[in-house]
Amino acid sequence: MSIIVERYKDKVSTLPTNDENQNLCMYEGFWHVHGFYINSKADFCVEVIMALQDDFQAQPTDVFLTSHPKTGTTWLKALSFAILNRSKFKLDLGSLPHHPLLTISPHDCVPFMETEAFLNNPSYANGLMATHIPYTSLPKSIISSDCRIVYVCRNPKDVLTSYWHFFRKLNTPIKLDDGFELFSRGMNHYGSFWDHVIGYYKASLEHPDKVLFLKYEDLKKDPESEVKKLAKFVGNPFTEEEKYDGSVQKIIKLCGFENLCEANKGGEQTSKVLSDDIYFRKGVVGDSVNYLTTEMIQTLDKITKEKCDGLDFSF
Ligand code: A3P
Repeated sequence: MSIIVERYKDKVSTLPTNDENQNLCMYEGFWHVHGFYINSKADFCVEVIMALQDDFQAQPTDVFLTSHPKTGTTWLKALSFAILNRSKFKLDLGSLPHHPLLTISPHDCVPFMETEAFLNNPSYANGLMATHIPYTSLPKSIISSDCRIVYVCRNPKDVLTSYWHFFRKLNTPIKLDDGFELFSRGMNHYGSFWDHVIGYYKASLEHPDKVLFLKYEDLKKDPESEVKKLAKFVGNPFTEEEKYDGSVQKIIKLCGFENLCEANKGGEQTSKVLSDDIYFRKGVVGDSVNYLTTEMIQTLDKITKEKCDGLDFSF
């Protein structure tokens, strides 16, 4: 057992659990896995969140990329990394040395916080890190310091569809009916999806200078203006010269689905539990219509309508 899991064993044992999915426990209003190991490290589990809440100290210059799983986290990581490091790495695809995003995964360029590796050495993130932790469970210093938070959301039908494929790729397939049941009742890792989104959405309204709320669908529709918005928000806006020299378009191309998919293909990463290509499938909006039944779609739309009632927000 890892030291972290051991440290929070008693606290975790008091949390409500879930008969339908024994791996989940409810912490601060969201479902989380507990005692979960990847490569014998306790990663992405509630114990690591508790440790971050106790120990993590945000810096005012930090940028946190936040999301519910399967909403475009990998894309946001790539875009943010390319934007913030554009003076260091050339953006042209053919230039040498190759841009890091052409040889290593966006997940290696921008680490997730809720891992033991990060907890043991937070400085290796270089001020740019990602997390799926719900807004209300973020370490207090992230909320109180002057750092920036960027959130990406996506419509729930495509999130469920993406999730379902992800589990199949992981060789832990789950029936779509069962996945739908659990997801629609909020019983998935970091669920409820809707509460996750709404938490960050409300925070972005209350603190617009601190929390930027992006949508996967907007990034697809108008990448140029979204990328400019992102660069400005993280404190690294495009200069007038860059606006004309194609920098924005180069970043969009570098981080585009086709390019990242190609760069992350392959068998060289066999030492990893999750191969790098697992995060790339189709990358389109509305693919859920090819998988979900009409009834599932209606149910998810109804939940969205109820959850977003009174909010100036839709997916
Ligand atoms: P699909 O399964 O619908 O194709 P996350 O990164 O949060 O795990 O989300 C994964 C989803 O984002 C997958 O969606 C994946 O294909 C898509 N994705 C990954 N990189 C992308 C990119 N550069 N552009 C658009 N979509 C991307």
